[in-house]
Amino acid sequence: MQPSVKHKMLEVFTKANGEFVSGQALADSIGCSRTAVWKHIELLREEGFELEAVRKKGYRIKSKPDKVSENELLIGLETKKLGKKIVFFDSVESTQKEAHKLAEEAAEGTLVIAEEQTAGRGRMTRPWHSPKYTGIWMSLILKPHLPPFKAPQFTLITAVAVAEAIRDTTGLTPEIKWPNDILLNGKKITGILTELQADADQIRSIIIGIGMNVNQQEFPKELESIATSIAIEKGEKVQRAKIVQAILKNTELYYQEYMENGFGLIKEKWESFAVSIGRHIIARTVSGTIRGKALGITEEGVLKLESMDGVVHDIYSADIELEK
Ligand code: BTN
Repeated sequence: MQPSVKHKMLEVFTKANGEFVSGQALADSIGCSRTAVWKHIELLREEGFELEAVRKKGYRIKSKPDKVSENELLIGLETKKLGKKIVFFDSVESTQKEAHKLAEEAAEGTLVIAEEQTAGRGRMTRPWHSPKYTGIWMSLILKPHLPPFKAPQFTLITAVAVAEAIRDTTGLTPEIKWPNDILLNGKKITGILTELQADADQIRSIIIGIGMNVNQQEFPKELESIATSIAIEKGEKVQRAKIVQAILKNTELYYQEYMENGFGLIKEKWESFAVSIGRHIIARTVSGTIRGKALGITEEGVLKLESMDGVVHDIYSADIELEK
């Protein structure tokens, strides 16, 4: 598909890095007329881009709207593959559901993202609160040539990528609670849902769902004590597109690292963010509750938990609570 005039224009502005670009330079690099340039500048303004125009200098982008549609995500995106194809919805039941429908045909790195989910879902078929224009609700399709038992490692790869993205874009210090929760000041800010389409011995697609509370100022009563947002913790709103771009960049980096060198570096980084390691926890699994000390994670991302009687349990899936 040919990039549109608008896309090309955003690319030129990205390269200009906040500097002015003349109307003629825009027309030349895009391959269109000055009138077309002017028309598309107006279209970008209508979409919420703040564009400054100065005689003899040209145009520059002063700010982007806080949206997560293709235009806002592509400008400044520093990846080779992830997020290069974006499927955007203003409102959708669940990006995860859409990604599952698309996965077979989709190119690796395809991102499904929405401003709102009306039936967002979390782990263990819980609902996921996804109000409009305030959070990041996205599902990323990866196609690694790996057997299905490796899939849980992708939750941990993603957790590291997301934790670093939050730290680097906001200056806040997130923690990871095994296996898939990211916390700020002890409250949940992000959940990760890793799902598979696979044959018995080969992954066809991994669909990584990421839900992040970004600019919410309040939560429904039942979530108030357990959930928070970046805006609440930082005291100011942040641009969601910047965080999405950082997540994509970090995920690409750690995905490549994992495929080339294995899980070692990611395990180390994961443990540096982990809140539960070395602490006494309660693990609620489908087959019962185990109390004990979290020793660490294995190369497979399995949690090692030592109960009071000295037995070390392998925990594959559970809800974790830190003992007070
Ligand atoms: C969890 O239970 O902690 C995981 C939550 C995952 C939510 C995300 S939001 C984007 C994607 N679409 C969904 O319906 N769920 C995931």
